[in-house]
Amino acid sequence: MQKHIKVKSPGRINLIGEHTDYNNGFVLPAAIDKYIYIDASLRNDDVIELFSVDNNQSYTTTTNTLLKSSMHWPDYVLGVVNELQKAGYITKGFNASIHGDIPIGAGLSSSAALECATIFALNELNEFGIDRITMVKLCQKAENNFVGLQCGIMDMFASMMGKANHVIRLDCRSLEYEYFPLQLNDYKIVLLDTQVKHSLASSEYNTRRKECNEGVALIQQKHNEVKSLREANIEMVHECIENGNVKNRCTFIVEEKKRLLNGCIDLQNANVQAFGKKMYATHTGLSELYKVSCNELDFLVNECSKEEKILGARMMGGGFGGCVISLMHQDFIEPITQKIATAYKEQMQKNLKVYIATIGDGTSVIKE
Ligand code: GLA
Repeated sequence: MQKHIKVKSPGRINLIGEHTDYNNGFVLPAAIDKYIYIDASLRNDDVIELFSVDNNQSYTTTTNTLLKSSMHWPDYVLGVVNELQKAGYITKGFNASIHGDIPIGAGLSSSAALECATIFALNELNEFGIDRITMVKLCQKAENNFVGLQCGIMDMFASMMGKANHVIRLDCRSLEYEYFPLQLNDYKIVLLDTQVKHSLASSEYNTRRKECNEGVALIQQKHNEVKSLREANIEMVHECIENGNVKNRCTFIVEEKKRLLNGCIDLQNANVQAFGKKMYATHTGLSELYKVSCNELDFLVNECSKEEKILGARMMGGGFGGCVISLMHQDFIEPITQKIATAYKEQMQKNLKVYIATIGDGTSVIKE
């Protein structure tokens, strides 16, 4: 009987610090209690046989022919195998059955969860002995090099390193991190899922990355010490950048960096009110300066802002769809979300989905 393992890896939320990860800034994510599950066993040959329970689709290839598939979901698994191989870790063939309850396309990082579940299972089965942080880095490379999204490290980090009831303050430059307990008093994290994912998402994401790099190059001409927007400030942005788009993108990032650090102080002081205001400010910046929002997200955030029992709301993740993250008083979640869902249906002709986020642990083996 071949060695066999079951692993689960969670989706993530991010409280504040959006698009700051690939600019070497800070982020404030947490893992949630929604997962991708992988059930895997090694084979004696080089065949990789994958089955997606939720799509009822199979995909078969070999460890020597790692090509992108038209089905998309296998790419996250194959991308991980590819990066393992590049790092000198050669896996045997394997069978893997995958399923999950993280809504796809909702901006909750189901893809990072699949990558983390895959690498964790292969690491255990092959006894590679790779540490978690190295696995996180390999998963990011899988997404950058194989899938083709130039994402930062936040999603994989949160999925692999999450801790129940804690948020992670991650410094994406040094990868130093700190867990701190999330005290929201009577408030809960409620996710409002637009149920849209506009096709612009990945191309515009890669464009934002380029625009930020352009900004850094301009600032560097006068300030040699600036290696990323992490080291830049608003005066430098005004002094060095004329181009409207690039200037707006960089302005948002330097403001967001500051908001995150001040927001952490609010959370440490359990000042949920002040933190909520910063969430609204982040949304305005993402919508007007960074231009990664969309009508559906803007509509929902605006509806939230009318509610006294909601302290803060903003789009979350890459943008162009997915979820709004909000802080809602626990006694009013039902009536408020119903009201917003009705307005969303009337104005946008779409159904709203609502999830209350519970913060859970990172990637783990499921004991049988
Ligand atoms: C996506 C990316 C992350 C991060 C966010 C925006 O989720 O995968 O790396 O950049 O967008 O904060």
